[in-house]
Amino acid sequence: MNKKIAIIGGRGTVGKKISRKALEKGYSIKMLTRYPKESGSEICFIKGDARNKEDIKELIKGCDAVINTVGHPKSEKPFYSAVTSHTIEGMKELGIKRYIVATGASLTLNGDEKTFLNQVGANLFQLFFSAMMKEKEKEYELLKASLLDWTLIRLPFIVDKKGKGHIKVATKNMPGKVITNEDIASFSISQLDSKKYIRCTPFISN
Ligand SMILES: NC(=O)c1ccc[n+]([C@@H]2O[C@H](COP(=O)([O-])OP(=O)(O)OC[C@H]3O[C@@H](n4cnc5c(N)ncnc54)[C@H](OP(=O)(O)O)[C@@H]3O)[C@@H](O)[C@H]2O)c1
Repeated sequence: MNKKIAIIGGRGTVGKKISRKALEKGYSIKMLTRYPKESGSEICFIKGDARNKEDIKELIKGCDAVINTVGHPKSEKPFYSAVTSHTIEGMKELGIKRYIVATGASLTLNGDEKTFLNQVGANLFQLFFSAMMKEKEKEYELLKASLLDWTLIRLPFIVDKKGKGHIKVATKNMPGKVITNEDIASFSISQLDSKKYIRCTPFISN
């Protein structure tokens, strides 16, 4: 039987190549969206809002893993920790273990060895996007406190281009400045069956 994955944010800049890559690899998909199309044999769309606990539960029911690449609209307050909190709660209730989440490379954590330039970049994010960064820090704390098999992927700038096929991964500092969303999709899907970065926060780039 093929595995089913739940996707949150599957139509965003970061997430929009994930469903295609998942289908290529033989997974079936449930995708949360506020604006669903008609579901087909390949993707089951679940209409809902990621800030709503019941919608998340409806999404992840019957799935083997969850990938979250949600992005908050600029007109709204960032809500990353609420989405992850509902997801963790739902996954615990339904006995789902694997959770893969996207965040920004500007998230600085204990043990990082960022270059001076990357530290400056992270500080600018703290200064200009403090509400977002607080949400991202809170999301990380929720993940750490959970018993899930999570991976928090730290991303640089995204380019909407064909994948380059080579992906650098590092744990303490950004290995590069950009990544294509097709390569993010490849990395995210490859993590579904990998234990290498469980409970880790890898940076990836091209
Ligand atoms: N873009 C970048 O350059 C970049 C760089 C580094 C890190 N990141 C990080 O990557 C993550 C995703 O960023 P992004 O740029 O891809 O964001 P984005 O394009 O704004 O994400 C839009 C996606 O989020 C979904 N979404 C938004 N609000 C929702 C809600 N209330 N309920 C359900 N779904 C909702 C949308 O679904 P529907 O519209 O279908 O409902 C859509 O699939 C974020 O954590 C961001 O900080 C982004």
